[in-house]
Amino acid sequence: MQTVSVKELLSGKQLQQEVTINGWVRTFRSNRFIALNDGSTINNIQCVVDFENFDETVLKQINTGSALRIGGTLVKSQGKGQSFEIQVNDIFVHGNADPDTYPIQPKKHSLEFLREKAHLRVRTNTFSAIMRVRSALSFAIHNYFRNNGFHYFHAPIITGSDAEGAGEMFRVTTLDEKNPPLTEDGTVDYKADFFGKETNLTVSGQLEAEAYAMGLGKVYTFGPTFRAENSNTSRHLAEFWMIEPEMAFFDLHDNMDLAEDFIKDVISYVLEHCQEDLAFLEKRLLDEEKSKPQAERSPMPLLEKLKFVVDNNFKRVSYTEAFDILRNSKPNKKKKFQYPIDEWGVDLQSEHERYLVEKHFNCPVILFDYPAKIKAFYMRLNEDGKTVRAMDILFPGIGEIVGGSQREERLDVLKQKIADLGIDEKELWWYLDLRRFGTAEHSGFGLGFERLVLFATGMGNIRDVIPFPRTPQNAEF
Ligand code: 4AD
Ligand code: MG
Repeated sequence: MQTVSVKELLSGKQLQQEVTINGWVRTFRSNRFIALNDGSTINNIQCVVDFENFDETVLKQINTGSALRIGGTLVKSQGKGQSFEIQVNDIFVHGNADPDTYPIQPKKHSLEFLREKAHLRVRTNTFSAIMRVRSALSFAIHNYFRNNGFHYFHAPIITGSDAEGAGEMFRVTTLDEKNPPLTEDGTVDYKADFFGKETNLTVSGQLEAEAYAMGLGKVYTFGPTFRAENSNTSRHLAEFWMIEPEMAFFDLHDNMDLAEDFIKDVISYVLEHCQEDLAFLEKRLLDEEKSKPQAERSPMPLLEKLKFVVDNNFKRVSYTEAFDILRNSKPNKKKKFQYPIDEWGVDLQSEHERYLVEKHFNCPVILFDYPAKIKAFYMRLNEDGKTVRAMDILFPGIGEIVGGSQREERLDVLKQKIADLGIDEKELWWYLDLRRFGTAEHSGFGLGFERLVLFATGMGNIRDVIPFPRTPQNAEF
């Protein structure tokens, strides 16, 4: 059947024509006005029903949440609030929604309540707006890389390596949990497992992306990654999507330039293509913030904040400079930080990152040249012998959004690093091969996709920007 979307209808091109649309009822007022939404836009189309022309049994099934097919004429609206509406002459009920049990009613529901109804929450304005922005951002990401000479590379999901060396992995096994085969010394014999070795869900596609960059030049991954860290915060998921570009012949500065340009480009894309959704989310945020104390309100409305990021340079600061700023900061001197900044080399906590971004610099910040001790094994050692060519991008309200580095391309230095950390060289034989055969300077980074969506939508909790969040004690749906 030839149907049109609500988005198309609202452009008015079919004025005075007979049209057919499908959608879900948002509201049905006075037995006369149906607000229908099909997900194509945040806006509804008003469908005007002359109830005398319709059977009582049909009208009764038109409730919030019912799925309908409506036929009628598109006309200019007489009422306020919309330019076009449909004069209905035909209604087909695909499926109704019982008003006594359908949980999504036309009133304000809390985000917590909607998290428990994650299978239905996309039928609200807020979640449909977020998910359309999420979808547009994914498109913009692929678009950016395509336009800049990158190849899309699919990293494996099941892997034997722990790229980040943090040991926070989900095991993949087909062994009998009650009666696993054991080795002579009584430990589980993974040689008998499906892959003949211990395997896990990947925490990062980086190591494999490095292999591909050293042949395809510039590659990127965009896929799910998994971390079994028990962090119940508004910024952590156990399953999240990561974008990881990896570029041969790029040093740390090329890497920072690319990351900044990339983020600005994808945010510009949504500013241009998601105007209605962003305007809705901005208003939602302003309403929500009215109930918050002044100090907790964001200093800029959403659209202004996004434009600010696009129009201003990110501030680039070395770890050592940031450390000095933090050590001499008021909250540090007054012992207001939970983790005091005293000795060079300490890892920065989110309270420190937020101070730098939100209080000191007031803009996105790229921190680089971190102490080697607090970063992963693959980062390139600087000439000072104690810092590595790492870079993290910190965003206001989010904290770390990107983590990346120039990679150690020197075989001897990398081998030493691996040995110092007590990692078995054999496990990384193929990664070391990349340094044996045609090694070269190369760099890359990882952008947490949900953290980007958080920023772009102004939402406060990462559970609200992924369709079905996976967090400790929660894998419903
Ligand atoms: O800083 P991370 O751990 O870096 C890496 O995994 C590198 N291998 C990336 C690379 O160089 N190719 O993670 C990168 C980003 C973080 O900056 C953050 O945005 C996001 O991934 N991230 C998470 N997002 C949601 N939930 C979690 N548990 C996350 N852990 C990291
Ligand atoms: Mg990191």
